[in-house]
Amino acid sequence: MQTLVQNASDILRENDLGTYTVPTHGLYPFQWNWDSCLTALGQAHFDEARAWREIETLLAHQWEDGMVPHIIFHKEDDGYFPGPDVWATGRDVPTSGITQPAVAGFAIKRLFDRAKDKELAAKMARTLLPKVFAWHEWFFANRDPEGTGLVAILHPWESGRDNSIDWDDAFERVPTEGVLPFTRRDTQHANPEHRPTQAQYERYIWLVQLFRSLNWDNAKLHDASPFQVVDPGFNGILLRSCMDLADLADALGDTDTAAKSRAQAAKGIAAMESLWSDKHGQYLCQDRRLDQLIDSPSVGGLIAGFAPIPAERAKALADKVTEMADKVSYLVPSHDPDAPDYDGKRYWRGPAWLIVNYLISDGLRRAGQIEVANRIATSSVQLIEKSGFAEYYDPKTGEPCGGTRFTWTAAMVIEFIAQSEKG
Ligand code: GLC
Repeated sequence: MQTLVQNASDILRENDLGTYTVPTHGLYPFQWNWDSCLTALGQAHFDEARAWREIETLLAHQWEDGMVPHIIFHKEDDGYFPGPDVWATGRDVPTSGITQPAVAGFAIKRLFDRAKDKELAAKMARTLLPKVFAWHEWFFANRDPEGTGLVAILHPWESGRDNSIDWDDAFERVPTEGVLPFTRRDTQHANPEHRPTQAQYERYIWLVQLFRSLNWDNAKLHDASPFQVVDPGFNGILLRSCMDLADLADALGDTDTAAKSRAQAAKGIAAMESLWSDKHGQYLCQDRRLDQLIDSPSVGGLIAGFAPIPAERAKALADKVTEMADKVSYLVPSHDPDAPDYDGKRYWRGPAWLIVNYLISDGLRRAGQIEVANRIATSSVQLIEKSGFAEYYDPKTGEPCGGTRFTWTAAMVIEFIAQSEKG
């Protein structure tokens, strides 16, 4: 175990550019939003100040309206597409114009709770808390204009589950006419068979062009977008962060932020019930444009359990994970292996991801589903022992896929092992 932790720490250091960490050199040469927040949890085991810095750097690039972008292009690198010129968001330090799962609130609470350097933790938490709260407010104002309690993503990349089967039908509404010619870079770094298709990429870029034509004005994007999906995983992460931010705010004596955050969480968690499917025993995405659930049993519906959902829902999700354990060798597949479009090697259409395992197992542990939480953790460490620190894995064979020496995979290994040592 100690060798695994050492190897994981080496990867974190190797991908560390001083004030931020790249997900992996080559394929992803910039700072990614939720990667950084989860990476900080791993860094904190050997350098707390560096961990706080990771999130501080991310939030330093928050937009004036409160949005925290999904990529910060700290320096030029033409090995990635779409780069700053395609986004054209007009920022001094260029950023993308969309966001990613709001895991920062959870991450800063966890860093704060575990901190050995209490003084630094209090100082950093006080600085970062209002920024994270502003981001949450941004979400509810701009991505939930009708006040349902749940927010929509406007681009598959926002979900963090880029080419999930969940988006396939809604994506049919996104045209490809008018997409300017482009050259992908991802397929030069990773096996094209394991990546999104060209047709999906054209639609990704069409949406970027649409939002760019609206000058990235977040007051306009929601209603203008043909793609509006309410992802239970994305909302589960946001609502858990609201809840954690409320507790953190209480600990810091900020009762106003605590009350507002708690109200956001309560409203959202009540609304999550509308995404529950008895047929699948999990949450599903909702196509907001059509006002209907998307019949696609993906891991988004299990990540939802990261939020403080009702106990019987958490129990059903634990059962679902147990059921899937019979269908794969390594947990947790990003799509139900029995579903028709399942593809065990193609990115988010089947492969297992360690960060997802971490979120699901953390939520289940919190809900008292300890056995299944432990099972996911054990399976995760076995996968790394077999196949190293890849970006994602075929859950049936354990074959490593995508990028190598991957930062957040390494961070999650440190977390899982620390957790198992704590018992
Ligand atoms: C891919 C993943 C996304 C992640 C990014 C950097 O786009 O789908 O979740 O943040 O890579 O690792």
